[in-house]
Amino acid sequence: MFSLVWIACALAPLVAGARRPNSPPQLTQPALAFSDTRAAALTPTATAPVAYFFDQLLDHSNPSLGTFPQRFWFYEGYYKEGGPIILFNAGEVDASGYTGYLLNETITGAIAYAVGGANIVLEHRYWGASVPFANYSTANMKYLTIENNVQDYAYFAQNVQLPWASGAKSVPPPQTPWILAGGSYPGALAGYVKHTFPDLFYASYGTSGPAITDYYGYFTPVEAGAPQNCTADMKAVITHWDSIMQGGTEKEQRALMSIFGLQNVTHIQDASSALQVAPWDWQALSPAAGAGQAFFNFCDTLEVKDGVPAGPKGQGLDYALQQWGAWQIQTNIASCGNAYAGDECWGSFDANSTTYTNIDISNTYRPWMWTICTQLAFWEVGQTEGPFIVSKLVDVEYAQRQCALYFPPEDGVSVPAVVPVDQINAVFGGWDISEDHMLFVNGQFDPWRSGSVSSQLPGASNLQSTAQQPILLIETGVHCWDMITSSAQANPSHTRRFQPSNCADGGVDERVG
Ligand SMILES: *[C@@H]1O[C@H](CO)[C@@H](O)[C@H](O)[C@H]1NC(C)=O
Ligand SMILES: *[C@@H]1O[C@H](CO)[C@@H](O)[C@H](O)[C@H]1NC(C)=O
Ligand SMILES: *[C@@H]1O[C@H](CO)[C@@H](O)[C@H](O)[C@H]1NC(C)=O
Ligand SMILES: *[C@@H]1O[C@H](CO)[C@@H](O)[C@H](O)[C@H]1NC(C)=O
Ligand SMILES: *[C@@H]1O[C@H](CO)[C@@H](O)[C@H](O)[C@H]1NC(C)=O
Repeated sequence: MFSLVWIACALAPLVAGARRPNSPPQLTQPALAFSDTRAAALTPTATAPVAYFFDQLLDHSNPSLGTFPQRFWFYEGYYKEGGPIILFNAGEVDASGYTGYLLNETITGAIAYAVGGANIVLEHRYWGASVPFANYSTANMKYLTIENNVQDYAYFAQNVQLPWASGAKSVPPPQTPWILAGGSYPGALAGYVKHTFPDLFYASYGTSGPAITDYYGYFTPVEAGAPQNCTADMKAVITHWDSIMQGGTEKEQRALMSIFGLQNVTHIQDASSALQVAPWDWQALSPAAGAGQAFFNFCDTLEVKDGVPAGPKGQGLDYALQQWGAWQIQTNIASCGNAYAGDECWGSFDANSTTYTNIDISNTYRPWMWTICTQLAFWEVGQTEGPFIVSKLVDVEYAQRQCALYFPPEDGVSVPAVVPVDQINAVFGGWDISEDHMLFVNGQFDPWRSGSVSSQLPGASNLQSTAQQPILLIETGVHCWDMITSSAQANPSHTRRFQPSNCADGGVDERVG
C-alpha cells in the first residue's frame, strides 16, 4: 500500500479516538488528490474537479426511509462518443483525497484514456461528505451493510444525471458500458457488484474474494516476501515471546515486555498486539519509494550488525530480541509519544477509552470497524500452529471482543457475537465468485492476497485465469501497486504485463495470467 493516509495515522501521536496503533490498519488504496500542476502536465483541459451530490437511498430494502447525499466527481476529458463510464469507489475514506483517480496518473484514468471513457470517483456511504447521520452512534450504523453498499452502485448508475459539459450524453447501463474499479476493499466491492448485477455492469477491475474470520493469512505473504534472515529472527523472537507469555512467571513476562518498552501495559495480549506494528508496516511498502521504508528499516535494525547483514538464518534470538526491542521503543515514541507507553496507547480492555467512545464522524476508523465487526471480520491474528511472525496470544477472540466495546447495543442495533462471514460469502460468491469480464488483480506479496482468488490458504479458490475472467498476479507486488500509474511503472514486472488498453474488451493480455 502507498497510502499516505495510513502512514500519517501510524506516525502521528495518538489522537483521541483515532485508530489505536495496535488495531489493524485499514486496507485503504493509495490516496491521490487532484493537483493542478500534475493535471496541467497531463492534460491542459483538466480543471479542479467539482463535487456533486446524488440522492442515494438510505436503505435499499426500504426506500420509504428516504435518501442522503452521496458525493461524487466526474471527468470527461478523455471521453469519446460511445465510450464507457469508469466508476471508481474510494472505499473506507473521505474520497476528497482520491480525485486524482479521474486522471490517467491512476489506473482508472489510464483505462479511460486508453479507451475514450469518462471517469467517476464515488464516495462510499458513511465516509467523508456522504455520512447519512450526524454521528457514528451504534444505532446510526444500521444502514452500513455490504448489501446497501452494493446496491448503491446500481441505483447510482441507473439514476444519476451525469454533469456532462461537452454536450455528450450517456444513457444508463447496460446500453452504455460501465466498468467498476477499485483496489482493496472497493476492489472486492467491484467484484461483489458485478456478481450481483452481471448484466447491468460491463466489467469489474479489482481484487475479490471471501470474508474470512481467522485471517492469520494476512501475515503469510509478509512471511513469504520479507528477507529470509528477518523472517527467521522474527519467528525466533515471537516463539520466545509466546513461551514466556504462556508459561513464564509474571516477573519473567514483565522483564521480557520491558525489552520492548511495554512493561506498563496491563494485559499481555495488548503487549503482544503491539508487536504487530512491525509486520503491519509491510503493507505500506511502495515500489516507487525504494529503500528506507519502515519495514526495511525494521529488518535492517534486526539484521545488520557492524555494517554486515546476516545470512539467511538471521542473527539469532539474543541479538534480534534486543534490536526489535529498541525498534519497538522508537515505535512507542512515534505512535504514543512515550517510550514506555501503557494502556493509554496500547490498551484495548477499557470500554471508556475514547477509541471506543468517540462517535464523531471525523473518526473514520469507526465505520470500518463496524464493517468488519458485522460482516467481513478479517481478524489479523497469529497462526495457531508452528512458529510465526505474530504472537498466538493475538487470536480471534481477542480481536472480536473489541466489537462490543466499540458498539454497545443501542435502539435494538448491535454487533453479532461472531461475524457471520458465511452469509456474505453465500451471497457474494466467496472463493467461487465467477463472472465474465471480471478482472482480478492481486499482488504476489500483498497481505490481502490471502483473501483473494489468488489466495494460497488451505481450502482457497481453484479459480483459473481465463480470457473472460483474467486473474492477474503482480510479481513482487504488495498492496494496490497497480493503482497509481507511477507506482505501477516503477515495478518492472507490472509494466511488462498489463496494458490498460486491453481492458477495452474486458480482458487483458493473456501473458498476465
Ligand atoms: C496520460 O495522458 C497523457 C496526455 O494527456 C499521455 O501523454 C500519457 O501517455 C498518458 N499516460 C497514460 C499512462 O495513460
Ligand atoms: C447522535 O445522533 C443522533 C441522531 O442521529 C442523536 O439523536 C444523538 O443524540 C447523537 N448522539 C450524540 C452522543 O451526540
Ligand atoms: C538480510 O537482511 C538484510 C537487511 O535487511 C537484507 O538486505 C538481506 O537481503 C537479507 N539477506 C537474506 C539472505 O535474507
Ligand atoms: C512506565 O515504565 C517506566 C520504566 O519502567 C517508568 O519509568 C514509568 O514511570 C512508567 N509509567 C509511564 C506512564 O510511563
Ligand atoms: C466507565 O464510565 C462509567 C460512567 O462514567 C462508569 O460507571 C464505569 O465504572 C466506567 N468503567 C470503567 C471500566 O472505568
